[in-house]
Amino acid sequence: MTSRKIVLTAALPYANGDLHIGHMLEHLLCDYWTRFQKMRGHESLFICADDTHGTPIMLAARKQGITPEQLIAQMWTSHVEDFKAFEVLHDHYSSTNTPTNRKMAEFCFASLQKAGVIESKSMRQLYCDHDKMFLPDRFVKGTCPKCGTVDQYGDNCEKCSATYEPLDLKNPACSLCGNAPKPRDTEHLFVRLEDFRGFLTEWVPGHVQKEVSNKLDEWLSTELRPWCISRDEPYFGFEIPGHPKKYFYVWLDAPVGYISAIEEYCIKNGKKLDDYWRNPKTEIYHCIGKDIVYFHTLFWASILKASGFNTPTKVLVHGFLTVDGVKMSKSRGTFLMAKTYLKHLDPTFYRYYMACKINNGIDDVDLSLDDFTQRVNSDLIGKITNIASRSAQMLARLDNRIGDMADDGKALVKRAQEASEKIAAHFEERDFARAMIEIREIADDANKYFDTYEPWKLVKTDETKTKQVLAAALNVFRIMAVYLKPILPSYVEKVEALFKEKPYTWSSAQSILENHELGVFAHLAQRMDPKKVQEMIADQKAESASAEPPKPVKSAVATILPEIDIEDFQKVDMRIARIEAAQLVEGADKLLQLTLDLGGEKRNVFSGIRHAYKPEDLVGRLTVMVANLKPRKMKFGMSEGMVLAAGPGGKEIFLLSPDSGALPGQRVT
Ligand code: MSP
Ligand code: ZN
Repeated sequence: MTSRKIVLTAALPYANGDLHIGHMLEHLLCDYWTRFQKMRGHESLFICADDTHGTPIMLAARKQGITPEQLIAQMWTSHVEDFKAFEVLHDHYSSTNTPTNRKMAEFCFASLQKAGVIESKSMRQLYCDHDKMFLPDRFVKGTCPKCGTVDQYGDNCEKCSATYEPLDLKNPACSLCGNAPKPRDTEHLFVRLEDFRGFLTEWVPGHVQKEVSNKLDEWLSTELRPWCISRDEPYFGFEIPGHPKKYFYVWLDAPVGYISAIEEYCIKNGKKLDDYWRNPKTEIYHCIGKDIVYFHTLFWASILKASGFNTPTKVLVHGFLTVDGVKMSKSRGTFLMAKTYLKHLDPTFYRYYMACKINNGIDDVDLSLDDFTQRVNSDLIGKITNIASRSAQMLARLDNRIGDMADDGKALVKRAQEASEKIAAHFEERDFARAMIEIREIADDANKYFDTYEPWKLVKTDETKTKQVLAAALNVFRIMAVYLKPILPSYVEKVEALFKEKPYTWSSAQSILENHELGVFAHLAQRMDPKKVQEMIADQKAESASAEPPKPVKSAVATILPEIDIEDFQKVDMRIARIEAAQLVEGADKLLQLTLDLGGEKRNVFSGIRHAYKPEDLVGRLTVMVANLKPRKMKFGMSEGMVLAAGPGGKEIFLLSPDSGALPGQRVT
């Protein structure tokens, strides 16, 4: 077989947070595959980088009081550390915030311009005067224009699934400060995707899985909307040449990072980029989750086309990781972070289990925790590892040498060897689940053989025969280890040491060991302790709870006052108020002086909430006030109303906060 040249990429993880075990699924899938290709003697480069640009990263850095550069440097180190711990081996792991990537993004943009597919258009967007920025879709919340559900994001409604523009939202509010943003005109650059329709229609079907192709047919059956590739400042990213104060949208320079990372790899290793990205013989694969298909198959393929780079051989789409059947969710505290996993469990277990579950489809992959423990213990430990540990330890008590095999032992080994190409075909197709089924069948076969001879008894009467049985068992185990090497690299390193051999390649399975001395047996893997799984889950819950502290739930034990009529109630004029200013009051240690905005009208109110709130934390917040309370002259000035709060007092005071869509001055009824 001639050697192939393969480039494989995983989607670039966002640098605004740590990796979770869903990210790890994608990188394991890639890692299994690229390690397999390398074992087959091919040149296979596994490339990735952190995706570092965009508004969320800029704001996250601001919140932590550091620069975006500092934040992405910290995240890079953290990501690389987690990948290493999970034995994910990238040939190069870069960042999109490199000079190479800036140049490459500029080149791709220039190519798009040259192709005449860029247009500039003025458009209206929501602008927050307080935060001095145009608000991305996810930073505006308001009432859904279709169904009227409050507190929905600027791009779609979670209740009725309607999609719309932030400008369509009713009562929009900036999710940073709560103020109502205003429409403002701004100039933006667009890629006319329609110009690529001919190319895309032809290209798509052969380059994605069937299920994905169906979805794309749907997208391609309607007009492709022009794609906005610019963003206004402030933005953490690359400024667009010739368009001051405009930045490339993160989704432009992120996929370009695939090419730049290869270029950096080439510079480091004395190779040529064109040999990879413009060489028709090089296979290029992008492995991604099903949420970012549009970006890769329509946007990215078009950019590559316009820039004269090869388009990918295949975009490989995978499903999402669920835990015990449910989507991981921040609010439910079910995000299992890579670091939390590592604190409790051996990454070998996860690598093994994911391999048993991942195939080449786009269905979600479930980490079912009971099944996880059981499969690791009964299969990896009970079926596979035990063959080696029982045989090697028994042989160590004899002469620690593999002698020769009897005919039935040889037949067993031959069957294991003959499975090689079938298993390789499953690996090639990324149907790891099937490959693992085949490997487990070999293990079943070997266990049956072992148990038939009962070598632990046989050794008392017939040492020669016992040694023949152990020789066969160890040879079969060794062949399984070769097949398992892409999945369990460090485990198989220990096997190589046990047999005192050089690193295995795929063809190592075709040789056998006879008259061969063993090394010292070291434990290959421990059983998985179900208690540790429980501890991990408890830890994850504790961590997500401390990240977003829930309000303490206490019952309010006060006697309800006597009934009133609706007329009585309607006499109280309660209004939405925005706290415009808040300050300490000299000589009054319980009070804060608040300036309230009632939608134009201003009120001065003294409120006994000083122990519960810092003045600066209140500015910009919405609350509810009684607007027709008779003004009261206090020592410090006139108090013109009252803000509504709950709680016994002191630190235990909770100011009423209406949903962010409410407008100052609106009556509360
Ligand atoms: N930064 C973009 C990708 C840019 S590629 C030029 C991004 N980042 S991400 O961090 O949100 O996701 C990275 C990858 O992880 C994506 O392929 C995404 O589909 C995948 N996953 C995120 N959550 C996942 C699961 N729960 N399960 C499996 N994969 C998941 O998107
Ligand atoms: Zn704002």
